[in-house]
Amino acid sequence: MVDSIGVAVIGAGMAGKAHAAAWRNAPSLFAPTLPPVRLVSVCDAYEPVAEESARRFGYERHDTDWRAVAAADDVDVVSVVVANHLHREVVEGLLDAGKHVLCEKPLSDSLEDARAMAEAARRAAGRGLVARTGFTYRRAPGLAAIAELVGDGTLGRVLHVSGRYWTDYGASPDVPTSWRFTGAPGTGALADVGSHLTYVAEFLAGPVVSVSGGTFTTAVTERPVAAGFALRGQDVPLTGERVAVENDDYATFSARFADGSVVGSLEVSRVATSHPNGLVVEVFCEHGAARWDQERPSEIGLALQADGSRTGGYRQVVLGPDHPYVAGGMAMDAPGVGWGQNQMFEYQARAFLDEVAGVADPLPRNATFDDGVHNMEVLDAVARSAADGGTAVTVPTSTVPTSTQEQDA
Ligand SMILES: NC(=O)c1ccc[n+]([C@@H]2O[C@H](COP(=O)([O-])OP(=O)(O)OC[C@H]3O[C@@H](n4cnc5c(N)ncnc54)[C@H](O)[C@@H]3O)[C@@H](O)[C@H]2O)c1
Repeated sequence: MVDSIGVAVIGAGMAGKAHAAAWRNAPSLFAPTLPPVRLVSVCDAYEPVAEESARRFGYERHDTDWRAVAAADDVDVVSVVVANHLHREVVEGLLDAGKHVLCEKPLSDSLEDARAMAEAARRAAGRGLVARTGFTYRRAPGLAAIAELVGDGTLGRVLHVSGRYWTDYGASPDVPTSWRFTGAPGTGALADVGSHLTYVAEFLAGPVVSVSGGTFTTAVTERPVAAGFALRGQDVPLTGERVAVENDDYATFSARFADGSVVGSLEVSRVATSHPNGLVVEVFCEHGAARWDQERPSEIGLALQADGSRTGGYRQVVLGPDHPYVAGGMAMDAPGVGWGQNQMFEYQARAFLDEVAGVADPLPRNATFDDGVHNMEVLDAVARSAADGGTAVTVPTSTVPTSTQEQDA
């Protein structure tokens, strides 16, 4: 085993801070089997954010150019948490420099770049490097609990999936433009939160093989331009200029899964006022149904047909040490403690560090870059469906996900 692992984070915006905190906390989840983890650098192109985040989360230094992280001998593992269109350049540079890389979702903003990144990851794997994608909801104990109930026959085969990821970060027309509002149709809400929702739906129901009914709308067609650095949700001075919103505020589609009788309906939005982070997924199965709601992440709803109609119906199951990932994973290791989305980043970081260090692993591996390509192929099929009036589009089978169901088997 290596003597120690040096970590760095590139991009210290909304999700970058979650990564910075996660590397710090990951070694304290579960038994202390990891070598010492050194918190080396937080890098952000905007220096005040880099400097403050490094201090806040206890990193040794900050950088403003990702190339400094790539060149640093004391860094082994790097999170890439910048805008999607920047992922490829940074990830390939880091892999070339011999770093293990955890890259945020979606893998990129174009399929071509995502496929090139997966190829780079395959080459890097030959040099012993780990490259994974941050589908953070994969780490939600509630979703893993439902997958377990499907897999062990309690719920049985999924018949129908319904999912929505409603957010409201774009609901106000006064929210300034940013990288999230530029790019081709499908790079908006669909890529941003639809990537998560699609991954979750596949985690529960298996690979999507075709989509139909793709529909996009851009509800807010122009946005103001911020004068200077603007983090999401912060009030910033504006230039007075307004620019066009290029991509989707809302997207919906139907999915058909590899088990041809299984279908799903998925809907995403960034203009759903009063739903800041509303991921809800529900599966209807042979023997019952289950649902999970991001706003109540440490419980699931469960309905079993065997309960009959007199006393049956949805019941609340409070998650605890009897459920996946929980036992031994939290400082207060007791039922009913509860947790939130930040902890999913910690599980994700822990799984990554376990893989790099080669230690026995309490958590399944993170998604591969091939999984990230497959996810983008589904989203691309939705965009093609939308461009063609909602027609059915087949998803290529070359990169069917491997790191979810198979890893849990
Ligand atoms: N897994 C999740 O739950 C989750 C949640 C939010 C965002 N994300 C993903 O994380 C990534 C970043 O999203 P965000 O919301 O944190 O974005 P953000 O805009 O809040 O932050 C991006 C940061 O990158 C910095 N930056 C820009 N160019 C840079 C460069 N060349 N080098 C270094 N830093 C640079 C910016 O200054 C900013 O601080 C995206 O891929 C997004 O999809 C994932």
